[in-house]
Amino acid sequence: MKIIAVADYQEMSEKAAQYVIERVKNNPSIHLGLATGGTPKGLYQQLINDHQTNFTSYIKVTTFNLDEYVGLAPINPASYHYYMEEQLFQHVDINRRNTFIPNGVAENLKQECQRYDEKVLLEGGIDLQILGIGENGHIGFNEPGTPFGSTTHVVSLTESTLRANAKYFSSEKDIPTHAITMGIATIMKSKEILLLASGLSKRPAMKRLLECAIEESFPASILRQHPQVTIIADRDALPKSFQSSVTEHSRV
Ligand code: PGA
Repeated sequence: MKIIAVADYQEMSEKAAQYVIERVKNNPSIHLGLATGGTPKGLYQQLINDHQTNFTSYIKVTTFNLDEYVGLAPINPASYHYYMEEQLFQHVDINRRNTFIPNGVAENLKQECQRYDEKVLLEGGIDLQILGIGENGHIGFNEPGTPFGSTTHVVSLTESTLRANAKYFSSEKDIPTHAITMGIATIMKSKEILLLASGLSKRPAMKRLLECAIEESFPASILRQHPQVTIIADRDALPKSFQSSVTEHSRV
């Protein structure tokens, strides 16, 4: 694992954008795995700025999102379809036919999960997966206890995730209790992973990711077995021993 420590959220976003832009330039048909939530918003803003000033093109890029809430249609402002439109897609030259997000309002959710995994496979997999990390160690919406071998599936969101997400909904009754998430095995098949973390609230999770055992009770820990992970995190999010600028952390 390569760990790049940065000063703050702004620098994390800028560094992450440089990383993604370099990959897109090297491979204009890259398959990006995208995350939602508060963490990657700054990265997406930087990609938009760069697209507008340097004209980096996304016309041939394919994207797969990690997750979507069950029961939220794409026109729902709290859905991740809506988020992606607002935060990135409508501001760059991406072809909507090449963007994939699980359908949270599919009639048959189980079939939808299967279809999503097949689509990832059919398109040739993910080259670079962008990840955030939950305070409870979730990646995507793979909550603690999710089998490491899981493929895309429907999850019941934990109390901790519901609390963390409450700020995105106007009332408690609107917070979805279930989501479709790309599975841990699906995420682990990505050729490369870029994990972003910012803020003190993420430090306990980052400490556990970097220092503790690999176990299903802490989903992100599996990333230590991936051959190609880069972490860009601000100093607030990192335990003390990882706060120098670049650290190589050997895989376990
Ligand atoms: P956040 O969520 O970016 O909103 O902190 C990250 C996650 O839960 O994976």
